[in-house]
Amino acid sequence: MINFTGVKKTFPDGTEAIKGIDFTVKEGDFFVLIGPSGCGKTTTMKMVNRLIDPTEGSIKINGENIQEMDIKKLRWNIGYVLQQIALFPHMTIEENIAVVPELKKWPKANIRQRVDELMSMVGLDLDTYRTKKPNELSGGQQQRVGVIRALAGDPDIILMDEPFSALDPISREQLQKDIRQLQKEIKKTILFVTHDMDEALALGDTICVMKEGGIVQIDTPEQLLHEPKDEFVNEFLGDRKDPLHVKLKHLLLEESHWVVSEEGLSSVSPNDQKFVADSSGAFVGLYNEGVINTDFEQTLHEDSTLRDAIRAFKKTDMVVLPVTRNDKLTGTVSLKDITFYLEGELHDGRLV
Ligand SMILES: Nc1ncnc2c1ncn2[C@@H]1O[C@H](COP(=O)(O)OP(=O)(O)O)[C@@H](O)[C@H]1O
Ligand SMILES: [Mg+2]
Repeated sequence: MINFTGVKKTFPDGTEAIKGIDFTVKEGDFFVLIGPSGCGKTTTMKMVNRLIDPTEGSIKINGENIQEMDIKKLRWNIGYVLQQIALFPHMTIEENIAVVPELKKWPKANIRQRVDELMSMVGLDLDTYRTKKPNELSGGQQQRVGVIRALAGDPDIILMDEPFSALDPISREQLQKDIRQLQKEIKKTILFVTHDMDEALALGDTICVMKEGGIVQIDTPEQLLHEPKDEFVNEFLGDRKDPLHVKLKHLLLEESHWVVSEEGLSSVSPNDQKFVADSSGAFVGLYNEGVINTDFEQTLHEDSTLRDAIRAFKKTDMVVLPVTRNDKLTGTVSLKDITFYLEGELHDGRLV
């Protein structure tokens, strides 16, 4: 839905801030731009709502070149949250949230309803805060208002430029939770800038790593953790990698002696436990005491994380569980596999 093609930006003083980038942000995606200070994150973001125009290349939203769009309409349909809390100090909280709906000339009743809805969504009590001025709120609360103000006009796209970096760790964590929850409910396309890998991994569906005006890698958090493209990305990931986020497919035992085909069952002793697959490879059930239990439901998926697996083991007496992909039995994972994997990965404190 947002598409950058061959985009470059050279500032009048000759600074080549963006040296040619191509990427696509899918509709409803939480897309995180991450990279060291000065790598061009803010410049990239500001080109989306035309606070900065590219020197070369094109930016399209839903196939339409933004240079050819009405700039007011473009901006009204893009929510923008800045790093600095940027509420209008002389306006009440309600008035601050209502700025874009007012510009869009929504009926008063609709605006009021929208303000109600948004404030309750982030747990700001309406009666307490509606008529307060920004300076009567804590920093965390003010930024919460900044976030819902960006959502107020029901924009298709939300830009957030290090929105939580000025906050204390507790407010920051709370707002990260809020925004993740909000995203689940509202399904907007979010372009989010951060220089904090923890934040990127916690929030992003897609992470775009930038360096010196270019893009180094665009991947899911999981992919990034597992296949950092180069030493730069690897360094950036540092020891923040959480092995519990790793998906089972990365430690799957495909040649497990726990797996048997229906045809092969005749040679299995009734005392043995096996996971059974039919001739198409589909999971059938657990063979135990000479019978196949086809109601066996504790299967894990290849895309389940280690954390999911550990939780599944907590609920069962089994020490091995079957792993499937599209209902096909692709292998097994045991508590022992997990333990050994974690020990190996954590050996030198990093995960590759
Ligand atoms: N208006 C400007 N004029 C000249 N150089 C600029 C301007 N804005 C940003 N830059 C430079 O462009 C580069 C990218 O900046 P920016 O996009 O703000 O990086 P980031 O947000 O990743 O920290 C930096 O070298 C910065 O100094
Ligand atoms: Mg910046």
